[in-house]
Amino acid sequence: MADSKKNAKLTIGDQSYDLPVLSPTVGPDVVDIRKLYGQVGIFTYDPGFTSTAACDSTITYIDGEEGVLLHRGYPIDQLASQSHYLEVCFLLLYGYLPTASELEDFESRVTNHTMLHEQMQYFFRGFRRDAHPMAIMVGVVGAMSAFYHDSTDISDPWQREVASIRLIAKMPTIAAWAYKYHVGQPIVYPRNDLDYASNFLRMCFSVPCEDYEVNPILSRAMDRIFTLHADHEQNASTSTVRLASSSGANPFACIAAGIACLWGPAHGGANQACLEMLKEIGSPENIPEYIRRAKDKDDPFRLMGFGHRVYKNFDPRAKVMKQSADEVLDLLGIENNAVLATAKELEKQALEDPYFAEKKLFPNVDFYSGIILEAMGFPTSMFTPIFAVSRTVGWVSQWKEMLNDPQNKIGRPRQLYLGETQRDYVDIEKR
Ligand code: SDX
Repeated sequence: MADSKKNAKLTIGDQSYDLPVLSPTVGPDVVDIRKLYGQVGIFTYDPGFTSTAACDSTITYIDGEEGVLLHRGYPIDQLASQSHYLEVCFLLLYGYLPTASELEDFESRVTNHTMLHEQMQYFFRGFRRDAHPMAIMVGVVGAMSAFYHDSTDISDPWQREVASIRLIAKMPTIAAWAYKYHVGQPIVYPRNDLDYASNFLRMCFSVPCEDYEVNPILSRAMDRIFTLHADHEQNASTSTVRLASSSGANPFACIAAGIACLWGPAHGGANQACLEMLKEIGSPENIPEYIRRAKDKDDPFRLMGFGHRVYKNFDPRAKVMKQSADEVLDLLGIENNAVLATAKELEKQALEDPYFAEKKLFPNVDFYSGIILEAMGFPTSMFTPIFAVSRTVGWVSQWKEMLNDPQNKIGRPRQLYLGETQRDYVDIEKR
């Protein structure tokens, strides 16, 4: 925990109070208000937590003004170009880059946990075939609590470790099986001779009738997408996982809660919403009308894939994703992709428009990811499940950090009450 070297003064009426100010290793100072209600009898008010630090953490740092994203101090663009997803998982989980033998051991542990309990496949059959894969993932991940009883006791460090590995390892299998069920094809079991991204692609796209060779370009692009979505500080779904875990709920239930939150179109569902928006726009000549609508206060339409609570500059992940989109489409020989052309023209026109400049609205991680995923053969309904596969390591890392924090206590926000003062019940005859 950071220590306090300076104070903030709060004056209410003729009373003044000193509040400790805590300084981070990098980023803004925080005013420590933990004792405020006890000392002063008032709450602070911050719907949406725009100015509130809910915890301290050493995992990910974001500088929204500069468009910086660091995982344990390493810049995301370096990790995306020089590392790979399971190494980034190790970094997020344990705080340092592994030696070759540590990485080999970690990859082996993940690889050997990719299968699901055989009984779990019957869960998938309980869903309608047209169920959204995110609905299936929420259900099946929550149901892991009913199958992996030997890794639900959060007070046991070994069980926390096993649950972490199981979640990271099994999420691709669950997402791939949800997809196969959705399209009416037989499920495909994971293979231990494939890397994480190749395994996922094979489980999604191979069929029993023929051999399936993973395209190394696509598995590299898939791995990069996993890396770019791995963790992102205290975003809505991570905060959901932390709040659920603060009650002592088991890890599978907490991660299922995170998946549910990620599904929303303002958060992880934006990649699906963005591609659907680009297709609705259809071609560059229709862009001005959609930009007009996005600026119209009376129109609920927003540009999906644009804007961010923290980034008031380019999302550094969007830059890498844009480069990946060009590479994947070129390598797949998908010239003149109308959706990519519309995306690039939309980005150009929006960034030239004063509204977006004034409000500091830039493309975010979801703006280009859908274009790559569609080119790889995924339906839009699989975009957010892929985000959930990637973000599982972020959720798990933050969950472990919170459980190891001696300050950990149940999260219980207060409110600004604007309802009725006390009044007596009135019998129905007298109303
Ligand atoms: C992710 O938090 C994370 O880190 C999330 C994430 C992660 O990795 O976990 O980065 C992943 O969720 C990325 C964001 C994906 N969502 C979208 O692309 C959906 C479209 N974006 C918006 O819904 C919005 O930008 C949010 C939800 C992302 C952020 O909203 P905020 O911070 O609450 O900002 P706001 O809604 O208060 O907007 C500020 C102003 C408003 O105008 P005013 O009321 O001030 O006049 O900007 C406008 C908004 O109307 N605005 C937009 C806009 N986003 C904000 N106007 C048009 N199009 C948009 N996309």
